[in-house]
Amino acid sequence: MNIWTVANQKGGVGKTTTTVTLGALLAARGEPVLLIDMDPHASLTSYFDRTPEELQATLFDLMSAQKLTPGLIDSATLDLGNNLYMWPAAMELATLDRQLGTREGLGLLLKQLLEKLDGLYAHVLIDCPPVLGVLMVNALAACQRVLVPVQTEFLAIKGLERMLRTLSMMEKSLKGARQVTIVPTMFDKRTRASLEALQELREEFGDKVWQGMVPVDTKFRDASRSHVPLPLLMPQARGVFAYEKLLETLLPTEVNA
Ligand SMILES: Nc1ncnc2c1ncn2[C@@H]1O[C@H](COP(=O)(O)OP(=O)(O)OP(=O)(O)O)[C@@H](O)[C@H]1O
Ligand SMILES: [Mg+2]
Repeated sequence: MNIWTVANQKGGVGKTTTTVTLGALLAARGEPVLLIDMDPHASLTSYFDRTPEELQATLFDLMSAQKLTPGLIDSATLDLGNNLYMWPAAMELATLDRQLGTREGLGLLLKQLLEKLDGLYAHVLIDCPPVLGVLMVNALAACQRVLVPVQTEFLAIKGLERMLRTLSMMEKSLKGARQVTIVPTMFDKRTRASLEALQELREEFGDKVWQGMVPVDTKFRDASRSHVPLPLLMPQARGVFAYEKLLETLLPTEVNA
């Protein structure tokens, strides 16, 4: 089971868009994909036109359950069609640390939860809130790979160092290093700010930065308004093409097979 976390504590950089788009592209290869909404604001959940209030169970119920039953996992798992599944978020996720603060291993709840799935999904993608907190720590601890979308604009790298430091601090206490891939997003080749930000990212973070970039593509907003992943709505969109390229570098063996 490939588990990837999409994280950056900066808001509006394309985390949810990256989760949805990569998820749909992976699912289109014919294997089941689980998307996890770790953001109490539930952007991923509302992307698919679900509201936490109307749901039987959410990720919060899974993470706070004293005893996790297959029935509970089933009732929290939404079938979105096209091989995509989702564990939706709820506002209460924001209070997880207050509610479970005394429980040992608070940062490992999601990791333990995913171990229970026993490889049910080929891929799991976790969408993080723009906050360096217990939810992001859970997502980082649970994954093998971290994707960090960064908007190519002025001061793009501000804050990035802090996140990478948090990650390397965590890795000292966890087994196995996580592969970090910085994904330049909303790249506008006509602006100097975009070009300079990209150059700065590459100088500062070297081969952690994906060679390509996701261009500005207004179709992403259209897709989100239609509640459909862009690869399903407009497979030919240039934004989709960019994420396909990204997948090729993340899954080199599968692509060449
Ligand atoms: N490549 C792109 N081109 C144009 N618009 C984009 C692109 N990627 C994302 N967007 C738009 O930018 C906005 C923010 O994107 P998104 O919600 O994915 O960011 P986020 O990092 O998840 O935000 P938050 O931190 O609030 O969770 C959305 O309206 C989305 O449709
Ligand atoms: Mg988001």
